[in-house]
Amino acid sequence: MRHFLDIHKTPADDLRGMIDDAKRIKNARIGLPKGTPDADQPLKNHMVALIFEKPSTRTRVSFDVGVRQMGGQTMVLSGNNMQLGHGETIADTARVLSRYVDMIMIRTFDETTLLEMAEYASVPVINGLTDRTHPCQIMADIMTYEEHSGPIKGKKVVWAGDGNNVCASFLHAAGQFGFDLTVTGPETLAPEAESIGWARDHGAKITLEPDLEKAVEGADLVVTDTWISMHDSQTTKERRHNQLRPYQINAGVMAQAKDDALFMHCLPAHRGEEATNEVMDSSQSVVFDEAENRLHAQKAIMRWCLAK
Ligand code: CP
Ligand code: NVA
Repeated sequence: MRHFLDIHKTPADDLRGMIDDAKRIKNARIGLPKGTPDADQPLKNHMVALIFEKPSTRTRVSFDVGVRQMGGQTMVLSGNNMQLGHGETIADTARVLSRYVDMIMIRTFDETTLLEMAEYASVPVINGLTDRTHPCQIMADIMTYEEHSGPIKGKKVVWAGDGNNVCASFLHAAGQFGFDLTVTGPETLAPEAESIGWARDHGAKITLEPDLEKAVEGADLVVTDTWISMHDSQTTKERRHNQLRPYQINAGVMAQAKDDALFMHCLPAHRGEEATNEVMDSSQSVVFDEAENRLHAQKAIMRWCLAK
């Protein structure tokens, strides 16, 4: 039994295997109606709990559809409506759920909730986003980059804006997949030193460049995300907007990158804030491919979790 907790906690060869598996799974379904079951049914007779302590569109729907296409069943649970949200311990919740279901996906706030769930569950646990990381998203993003532009190894990726949970998973991926990552944004919103250190210790070239235009020069991929994440307090909204506005990705910024550079955003986007409509809807933007690939990448992740 394996948990999928983070990019840096999963062996690099296994991550590569999952990306390849995801491409195979996607190709096998080309042109089929969305409700068509996969040819093999690895989740047949399997029940998967999808727990959400934060809102979600992509994670919720892509896991639900993915499990069903693989022959399994899901139950979507909201943290608030569970005893978990009213004082029952995570450890007890994990042990109880493990008596009913074959796999647990959880989106939560503090990562200790995820880690405790994994420690006490006797079934695989998957990280569907915490305040610190978003590994399923980055697996879909690596897959998306490679579909459009070939191997990501050695490429220059630029993260612009808030050094948040998605950025941390990109840092981990830089170490695991061997690409260079330049992070550009206000110093006070820089990613955690721990993630930067981990990526550097694993051979990735990580550059912190406060000047957006310089950072984006020669980039193969430009990535950004919302200025305010779900775990950020709305009281900091005005200050964060003021700090992050200079890091907006617009056509002028994309023009500094390579001509064939891609643009990514995990969505949901705040159009006109972190990225303009012009960029979001440009031919360089692959944001909807990223969203689609959540489905295929997560199927590969679930297969890996259950592999004997
Ligand atoms: N990108 C992503 O995880 O989207 P949702 O919040 O809609 O799940
Ligand atoms: N950084 C964002 C990602 C949403 C998918 C958040 O945590 O809200």
